[in-house]
Amino acid sequence: MEKLTDKAYWDGTYCRRKGLQSLNVDGFINYTNRLILNKLLEINLGNKSILEIGAGDSVWLPYLAKEFPSSRFVGVDYSDAGCALLSERAKQENANVRVIHEDMFVEESPLHGSFDVVISFGVVEHFDNLGHVLAAKKRFLKPDGVMFTLIPNMAGALGALTRTWSREVYDKHNPHDLDSFLRGHQHAGMEVIHGGYLGSTNFGVLSSCFPERKGLSWQMSRVLVAMSLVILWIEDKFGDLPTSKTFSPYIYAISRKT
Ligand SMILES: C[S@@+](CC[C@H](N)C(=O)[O-])C[C@H]1O[C@@H](n2cnc3c(N)ncnc32)[C@H](O)[C@@H]1O
Repeated sequence: MEKLTDKAYWDGTYCRRKGLQSLNVDGFINYTNRLILNKLLEINLGNKSILEIGAGDSVWLPYLAKEFPSSRFVGVDYSDAGCALLSERAKQENANVRVIHEDMFVEESPLHGSFDVVISFGVVEHFDNLGHVLAAKKRFLKPDGVMFTLIPNMAGALGALTRTWSREVYDKHNPHDLDSFLRGHQHAGMEVIHGGYLGSTNFGVLSSCFPERKGLSWQMSRVLVAMSLVILWIEDKFGDLPTSKTFSPYIYAISRKT
């Protein structure tokens, strides 16, 4: 299986990161975070053991650990810098999160078969073989465990714009649409309970194309972000607009072992 990123890339990304902002799910600006949270809450997270794979600097684990104090939260990542940031974040937020520095493809792990819920946010699309990476993630689940997987929708407008503005960032993603995402689950022996595109639009996802935050393309992306904010405000006031392969920012699936 080809890996579209490596450890050095993630270490570099985390070393450049400034500031530790917590997850915010309030207000129209954070509407998309709220959509993701609502999908997560479709799984019962109380009194559970929960693992995030690729948890470097995760904003989700500290948030969930505080919301569900009866549950046990663990984050695994192979990036030293990512693990260090998550530990610091958890400490700062007074959240009970165990951070483990480990490669998810390790042959044998004491963590295998020990979690009720295994989650990931933007990890599995960085490999050419989705079935293979989901199968690796699946090994951490108990027999009746549930998996939550979220990826950016690089098959639509966001992917086309990312390819135009940063070929380097685009090439680090496998541009799945919902069909190929669901097929990957099938290949991994996972049955999708719920899955689909998530959110009507959010061009804020394009910020990863512009580490320098300058230039004409950056300014153009700011106009798109402003348009997204108007749409998020409308959705916050009047309800969700339809999701689509072209404009939705994310694809998600909640699945269990077949
Ligand atoms: C897009 S980032 C996810 C970041 C994060 N959880 C978040 O959204 O806040 C992908 C993460 O997967 C991790 N990763 C990639 N390959 C991995 C592997 N083989 N084992 C463990 N972690 C890996 C990277 O180090 C990186 O932290």
